[in-house]
Amino acid sequence: MTSRILSGDADFWRSRRTGVKWGLYAADVLPLWVAEMDAAPCDPVVAAVAAAMRRGDTGYPLGRSFVEAAVSYAARTWSWTVPASRAMPVADVMTGLSEVVRVVTDPGGPVVVSSPVYNAFFDHLDLVDRRVVDAPLTDAGRLDLDLLDRTFGEVRARGERAAYLLCNPQNPTGTVHTRDELTALAALAETHDVVVISDEIHAPIVHDGPFVPYLSVPGGSRGVALVSASKAWNLAGLKAAVVVIGEDARPDVALHEVLTHGSGHLGQVAAIAAWGEGEAWLRQLTGEVAENAALLGRLLAQRIPAIGYAAPASTYLAWLDCRALGLGDDPAAVFRERGRVAFSSGPSFGERGRGFTRVNLATSPEILEEAVTRMENAL
Ligand SMILES: Cc1ncc(COP(=O)(O)O)c(C=O)c1O
Repeated sequence: MTSRILSGDADFWRSRRTGVKWGLYAADVLPLWVAEMDAAPCDPVVAAVAAAMRRGDTGYPLGRSFVEAAVSYAARTWSWTVPASRAMPVADVMTGLSEVVRVVTDPGGPVVVSSPVYNAFFDHLDLVDRRVVDAPLTDAGRLDLDLLDRTFGEVRARGERAAYLLCNPQNPTGTVHTRDELTALAALAETHDVVVISDEIHAPIVHDGPFVPYLSVPGGSRGVALVSASKAWNLAGLKAAVVVIGEDARPDVALHEVLTHGSGHLGQVAAIAAWGEGEAWLRQLTGEVAENAALLGRLLAQRIPAIGYAAPASTYLAWLDCRALGLGDDPAAVFRERGRVAFSSGPSFGERGRGFTRVNLATSPEILEEAVTRMENAL
């Protein structure tokens, strides 16, 4: 029998306290916040990293095998064929994304996002001194193409260079953008000359797809994509990601070679093993996440039916509409203070996150059930 991936009780995970997920809050707070899994990486990854450690292969990485593994995984999994020459390693997705933003826009210049969206987008745009312009998702969690058309037109009216940060699939809602939506987005980007930067870190975990790589849609090849094995195979601390520059990108869309030295050697070793040999593990993991998503639905329906929830179409993140509970803009703060359970703060994902909270489903069913009990205790 195959053993479960998402397992282990709170004492086990808390004993590893050097990591941020279990280490940040007091020991009586159950953490289901940052996007890390309560899971050991798959055997091929462990074997590859352990072998590299044993042979002292811990210096700087060399060669193209990492980006070639990324491109080969994309071709096999999504029929997305892109020459490896368009791909380059970076330390992590946010470093690559920030650097692309810095290159394709100007200080103080506009970068459009669609909230609710990955909260670190806001912090990193602040860090590189860019102006965030929000064109929120619709109430149904889809890209609002009319609004994006107007917003792109407005930000370009002054002649400033502009970018759009696409979260594909979307963290925190789990929305899997469709081929039609992405094709329409690419047409708008071309009309208004806006560079689309597509963060595809969550792409391997899809429950209700298919996932469509942005660069693969008609017109998408003018954009840039970022891919990584780090979310799907739980390798975030090992540090390695890939920037893919579309074949028809403007000539100013280029990364300095110096950046490619920031990628971690062991992160590359781990990702090559994950993309090459981690498919069975990923399938099992995705199934366990879907079971947890359904379990959360049943528990909320029984115990806190006022919360709005639909199982995510992708990711291991659940987006809960807590507005009917009367807990204010940031229900996560109330659940943490009164219930001793930590979720991610809804408003940190932008305007459209007020009254919401994000729950990490990549944990054991027992921990998930205990989290719902603690939510009830907070009410
Ligand atoms: C959408 C998205 N992008 C980027 C990241 C961070 O990626 P990295 O650690 O490679 O910078 C996360 C982490 O949760 C994420 O959800």
